[in-house]
Amino acid sequence: MKKIVILISGRGSNMQALVEAQLPCRIAAVISNRANAGGLAYAEARGIPTAVVSHHDHPDRAGFDAALAQVIDEFQPDFVVLAGFMRILTEDFVNHYRGRLINIHPSLLPAYPGLHTHARALQDGVCIHGCTVHFVTPALDHGPIIIQAAVSVMKNDTEQSLAARVLQQEHRVYPQALQWLCHAQIELGPDEHVIFRRDKQAGHALISPGLE
Ligand code: GRF
Repeated sequence: MKKIVILISGRGSNMQALVEAQLPCRIAAVISNRANAGGLAYAEARGIPTAVVSHHDHPDRAGFDAALAQVIDEFQPDFVVLAGFMRILTEDFVNHYRGRLINIHPSLLPAYPGLHTHARALQDGVCIHGCTVHFVTPALDHGPIIIQAAVSVMKNDTEQSLAARVLQQEHRVYPQALQWLCHAQIELGPDEHVIFRRDKQAGHALISPGLE
């Protein structure tokens, strides 16, 4: 059975969604860069090994990433899953896990890389927003896309209400991406594109605010 390590920095709701999805893989560990990450208690309560590698204990990014990789590699994971892990990773780290490192981002990439995605989407007045699961490559939030979910932006949306609607979808698409990976139905190709070995395609349209 494949093994995954999940990296978190905070509440860990995506990590919880992955645990509850009963994926065809073993969650070998949950690792946080913050000792007070809420998600750690959830993992511990379920008997999942946890570890903390604090970025405060390392003078620079390279040192932190090397220490983090050492802890991750002790668990010998097939995939490393970033789930709200709020650190920018060095090129060396990302290349070490090429094709095995995935992230979830709360926007329809390549729109809104970086922080405050929901506020920026509202500010721009977009009608459709969403989330993206992608392979991590050295360009921040620009790796090859595995799956996306779109939601309508509603008239009275606040940053919080929009974030909550997107988060619900994050909890659906992240387990799906992991299932595909664990069953070798997708992989990162040599040309930085995702190779899909599945025939199924959705072909739905989301029209927002909708036709009359
Ligand atoms: C999610 O919105 C995720 O897309 C982003 O950070 C947030 C983490 O939330 N990268 P949680 O810790 O999984 O609840």
